[in-house]
Amino acid sequence: MNRFKRPVVIAGNWKMYKTNEEAVEFVEDLIPLIEAASSTVYLAVPYTAISLVASQCLGTKIILGAQNMNDHREGAFTGEISGSMLKQAGAQFVILGHSERRQLFHETNEFVNRKVKMALEIGLKPIVCIGETSAEREDGHTIKVLTSQLKHSLAGLNEEQMAQVMLAYEPIWAIGTQQAAMPSVAEEIHFFCRRYLANQYGTGTAEKVLILYGGSVKPDNAGLLLEQNNVDGFLIGTASLSVDSFGEIVNLSKGPLKTKT
Ligand code: PGA
Repeated sequence: MNRFKRPVVIAGNWKMYKTNEEAVEFVEDLIPLIEAASSTVYLAVPYTAISLVASQCLGTKIILGAQNMNDHREGAFTGEISGSMLKQAGAQFVILGHSERRQLFHETNEFVNRKVKMALEIGLKPIVCIGETSAEREDGHTIKVLTSQLKHSLAGLNEEQMAQVMLAYEPIWAIGTQQAAMPSVAEEIHFFCRRYLANQYGTGTAEKVLILYGGSVKPDNAGLLLEQNNVDGFLIGTASLSVDSFGEIVNLSKGPLKTKT
């Protein structure tokens, strides 16, 4: 299986950072900086910034998205936001099942699964996050945990739906810790995910699905990670908050898509 047939996606996850004013300034500075990049840039901004930044991003290579959504179409769910609201505001994708949502807000695989299905129904591309804790890794449970997250978060999707989904492998021990996974470790897990997808959905679908790596990606470690066959790009938190570091990572892949010889 060969990454070089897949596009590279560099996604930023701003989390609960940036006011509208800061968001607009960031995007204004980023656009000219990434003109020559061949990767596709995804930005998951706070809900409040979506419609404002969406108009700014028209005609650029930035695809705008959200960091979460509710699993219902609409209803009496105070404080929640629906996929159609996000879509109408200008979002084209949504991050689902981020470990901060799973850990701090007790989101289960089943809840994530319902959101994935709703996002697909609405026409938002889901980026589904999976990842193990350091204790799970130390106990040798990584593959068991990831298999369960994949199985239950993606339950009931057909091949066509699966081909619309992006996965993000984000080991919890690497998020915000300055300790990214070694490239070989990331590749081993991404390869496992691709093999899982091939078994469940067929090789054709598995080869189409982009698998991003997330967890302390910085300009100085991104290059080697991106060289791995099954690392199709990144989901970046901290380094996506600065135009310089985010722009630098986006610009790692310049020129036409590589084809493996
Ligand atoms: P980080 O966050 O890049 O700050 O480690 C990644 C994420 O949580 O998506």
